Amino acid sequence: MTGGLSRRAVVGSTLALAACDRTIEAQAATLELPPLRSAAPFPVGTCVQAFQLEDRALSPLIAAQVSQLTAEWEMKMEYIVQDDGSLRFDAPDQIAAFARTHGMRFFGHTLVWYAQEPPAFKRLDTGRIAFDAAYRNYILAVVGRYRGQAVGWDVVNEAIDDEGDGWRDCLWSQRLGPLEHMVLAFQHAREADPEAVLFLNDYNLENRPKKRVAFLKLVEALLKAGAPLGGLGTQTHVAADLPAGRLSAAITDLASFGLPIHLSEMDVSLRRAKGLGHDKAKLEAGQGRVYAEAAEAFSRLPAQQRFAFTHWGLRDPDSWLNYKDPGDAPLLFDRRGRPKAAAAAWIGGLR
Ligand code: XIL
Repeated sequence: MTGGLSRRAVVGSTLALAACDRTIEAQAATLELPPLRSAAPFPVGTCVQAFQLEDRALSPLIAAQVSQLTAEWEMKMEYIVQDDGSLRFDAPDQIAAFARTHGMRFFGHTLVWYAQEPPAFKRLDTGRIAFDAAYRNYILAVVGRYRGQAVGWDVVNEAIDDEGDGWRDCLWSQRLGPLEHMVLAFQHAREADPEAVLFLNDYNLENRPKKRVAFLKLVEALLKAGAPLGGLGTQTHVAADLPAGRLSAAITDLASFGLPIHLSEMDVSLRRAKGLGHDKAKLEAGQGRVYAEAAEAFSRLPAQQRFAFTHWGLRDPDSWLNYKDPGDAPLLFDRRGRPKAAAAAWIGGLR
């Protein structure tokens, strides 16, 4: 009997879900929006992995929606530097070619990241001179390869520790010095490409004002040391319960140096929005509000400071937030590539 009851319950809920799906589909079908790239008066980007360029639904969506492309991870050391120290560029070359073919800008991410310490570099214990040469050669090889195509580079990624108490300790800082390894990275990147805009990129700059202060102090220190730092990147991995005003405050503060700003990796998690509980309508409303605030704050920057606005993926299931534990819906398009209410909110926030 229990079995019978639960069976009916399952059938009932399946029917209810199907009806609900149809309603959502009917709503989605009526959402007619211009492509993000034509709605915005500044470059709009997304990230991609080489295998996704073969996805017959995703690649046309990317080509239609964005005007700038970032490799999601295949331009990081973990991909490029192989165990024997040789470098591989097959995936980044494919992404660069896709950008070229579709008339999009191409953005380099990322050269120096505390989180990536390839064994080929760790093994180099023959003293500072050999390490310094390997570091410089790496940056010259990677940046040089895309010279003339990459409009910019995240030269140093996530240099500030989580609490905003200082700079992260890593292989690069230990071997080359805490500030020195960053200054050198900017100088080497400049040597390899005189035109590309060179960025310092970090996260939680809206959530943790203390971290933002530390980030801005590092910007000052780098400029004072003569690093050719040309732009500031704020990743913007946030949640739907982000209090109103935080994003705008961060963008205003970052813009105070007058440098170009890259809103570089935006997503708005529903799952991490603990403050909104499990109410789907509230979560989606919160997500729309956060996307609208980001679009509005970015639009208000002087035109020369609006480097680009990059979404960290387009379709929800492709998001990195779903790799280990699917179920979040942090992006602007649903699994079928249809724009969500969040996309309408983002476009609505543009000025
Ligand atoms: C993430 C990518 O999305 C994943 O594919 C990868 O495995 C790990 O990194 N900050 C960054 C990005 O600067 O490089 C990260 O991207 C997300 C957080």
